[in-house]
Amino acid sequence: MINHTDSLSSEAISGLHGTCLIVGDKSISHRSLMFSSIAEGTTRISGMLQSTDVYSTLNAMRALGVRISTLEDDVVEVIGVGMHGLQEPTKPLDLGNAGTGVRLLMGLIAGQSITVTFTGDESLSSRPMRRITKPLSQMGIQVSDNGDGLLPVRITGRSSPLPISYNSPVASAQIKSAILLAGLNARGVTSVIEPAKSRDHTERMLRHFGVDVNTQTNIDGSYIASLAGGVTLEANDIVVPRDPSSAAFLIVAGLITENSQILLPTIGMSPERIGLISTLREMGGNIEICNQREVAGEQVADIKVSSSQLNGIVIPADRAPSMIDEYPILCIAAVMANGSTLMENIGELRHKEADRIAIMAKGLRLAGVKIDETETTMRVYGTKTANGESHIKGGFNISSNHDHRIAMSFLTLGFVSSDRIIVDGVSTIETSFPGFVELMNKHGARISPVNNHGG
Ligand code: S3P
Repeated sequence: MINHTDSLSSEAISGLHGTCLIVGDKSISHRSLMFSSIAEGTTRISGMLQSTDVYSTLNAMRALGVRISTLEDDVVEVIGVGMHGLQEPTKPLDLGNAGTGVRLLMGLIAGQSITVTFTGDESLSSRPMRRITKPLSQMGIQVSDNGDGLLPVRITGRSSPLPISYNSPVASAQIKSAILLAGLNARGVTSVIEPAKSRDHTERMLRHFGVDVNTQTNIDGSYIASLAGGVTLEANDIVVPRDPSSAAFLIVAGLITENSQILLPTIGMSPERIGLISTLREMGGNIEICNQREVAGEQVADIKVSSSQLNGIVIPADRAPSMIDEYPILCIAAVMANGSTLMENIGELRHKEADRIAIMAKGLRLAGVKIDETETTMRVYGTKTANGESHIKGGFNISSNHDHRIAMSFLTLGFVSSDRIIVDGVSTIETSFPGFVELMNKHGARISPVNNHGG
């Protein structure tokens, strides 16, 4: 870490250049640790994201009795304990800031005859957990919290949960995954129906470990995933693609700064993750996708990005699940567009690490940008004139509110602001994108530490 004060300032730059190596995918890294832990045999995970969120999951698995060793920096080996081998931890499991970590683990523990108490940091402790504990209760799992649906939550699992067919009110991979994980040890078929398909890394990775998962997308866009319980996962090595949600910051930075030309190799290209790329292309972004291929059950490609004139658009409402983590950085692209950009069906953003609609709107208004917001929509009025000029005033501080994507988005806005932007609470970036500042600076950014007095 280059800063010791938890604040960073970001200044105008003349462009980004070179081949940028993005970190491993967070969603896939969490899953690879959990799934290999209950497999039969040893799994080697290469390219694992080494972020604080993923380490929260890794430490939780160790506390549950799993042996995990580090072979190289981003290569770990997990010795699976089998479908019923997790041990009751001696202390509560603290998942820090990791929403995926805590919610998927609740599902995993539901199928084990042990009791686990889950805790987290301030941000995670304010996020809704009933979306997970409600279906788990229907599977016969004992759940208790302080009556508020928030952490700490205690789960007492059982060796064979009741199979259910669950109609999820939201397209959420965390809900879907928790139920499917609980269903692995159920006696019968467990199904999850979601209103639209969310990222399917769980389904893909379970298949990679030899589990039969049936999936179907219906004409109305709804999606169903089901599996029969009583299965065994067979260890199988995993290569983690680079994270498209982390790549998003470099992609947008490359588009909105002048004279930029960057290459991002081996980025995960799962269709449920790349809504941002479609959106930015529709806005006029020069994004080239090359060398598409499949690695360990996941699609990857190399992405070339160059400076572009962007135009505001209406983003199709049904695209929201495939770019749900990318709205903060999309807001920055929208600021640098000609015309306004309308984002609909984004109510879920209010339940992320922070209320992302409220915090983005607050920061962008400080930057002089006009924003309209409702409970589930946001319109960003672009600042680019028809002759390609824009004037973003910086010179303000904004807090990350414990949200890594908010922090990285405002640092990116600093690249095109006349005065620098200071972001407070930047250590949260470590949860998903360790090395973000060093990587950005290596390729042309000017992000630097700030002392407590802002100087
Ligand atoms: C994730 C699912 C999404 C996403 C999160 C990671 C996952 O959350 O926002 O960053 O790995 O399953 P929801 O399931 O709440 O949509």
